[in-house]
Amino acid sequence: MISGYRDVTPEAIAELYDRYSERTAALLGGSIHFGHWPDPADDASVAAASGRMTRLMTDALEVGPGDRVLDAGCGTGRPALQLARATGAAVTGITLSGEQVRLASAAADAEGLSGRVSFRLADAADLPFPPGSFDGAWLFESLLHMPDPGRVLRGIHDVLRPGARLAIANVVERAPLPAASRPALDTFCELNRIAAILPLAGYPALIADAGLAVESVTDVSDHSVPQTFHALCTALRAAGPDDSTEDREEWEAMVTAMERLAVTPEVGYAIVVASKPLRPLRPE
Ligand SMILES: C[S@@+](CC[C@H](N)C(=O)[O-])C[C@H]1O[C@@H](n2cnc3c(N)ncnc32)[C@H](O)[C@@H]1O
Repeated sequence: MISGYRDVTPEAIAELYDRYSERTAALLGGSIHFGHWPDPADDASVAAASGRMTRLMTDALEVGPGDRVLDAGCGTGRPALQLARATGAAVTGITLSGEQVRLASAAADAEGLSGRVSFRLADAADLPFPPGSFDGAWLFESLLHMPDPGRVLRGIHDVLRPGARLAIANVVERAPLPAASRPALDTFCELNRIAAILPLAGYPALIADAGLAVESVTDVSDHSVPQTFHALCTALRAAGPDDSTEDREEWEAMVTAMERLAVTPEVGYAIVVASKPLRPLRPE
């Protein structure tokens, strides 16, 4: 079953990230995505684990100096900057949040990378780029906000050059959710403006329908989900709601939901890699 919250609009996403990006990124080590702990005994910080997840996504794209990469849902720009530093590629990041464009552009300036990495307001469902503009693209924990993932994937297909790769990192449903965990996932989706948490098994068809070829599907849940939720909830409980927390009931509901999801193995995380075939798979 697909989980998600129906009333996700571009305006609601923009409002969420305009308001919470700086605070959320501070809790998660600079980016706004789950971390990766390769070993169960690993006690790396959330920031280090977040950097590792970005490293996995970077390696999946197989890009190098001179290549152009689209970061669709760029957050604070940290993943794009790490990708650019590691590969020499140029990155264009898009987001719906003006505050994220400001934060990400300032970070690129501070790192002396603004010649190669830029950020702008744009909707991934309506990409403002000519066909074949990019040698790689990623949807790094952003597809879950998008009410029409098929449309977004078809648009990305069109702006990639043949042979280019797309990497998707996303929260997924690994197995049918037990009824007892449904309220926690519904709360999590509603408060985070998540439009859809799709079954992992549905990804190959979604990708094929967009004219892309599946390269790999990697379930990294056990190295990511419980650790990230646990670290986040521990930090939030230790700090408590701060003076800028507008709604304390919402804060409590969010933390309680994440504590439940930390022990709900049906909620997982996957990295899915696809490529644009050299000859079209679907009629143009
Ligand atoms: C969970 S954050 C992930 C940010 C970043 N990729 C990272 O890993 O740190 C989700 C991002 O997706 C962006 N987003 C959601 N829907 C979008 C859309 N339709 N078009 C462009 N960006 C979108 C949000 O603005 C936000 O930047």
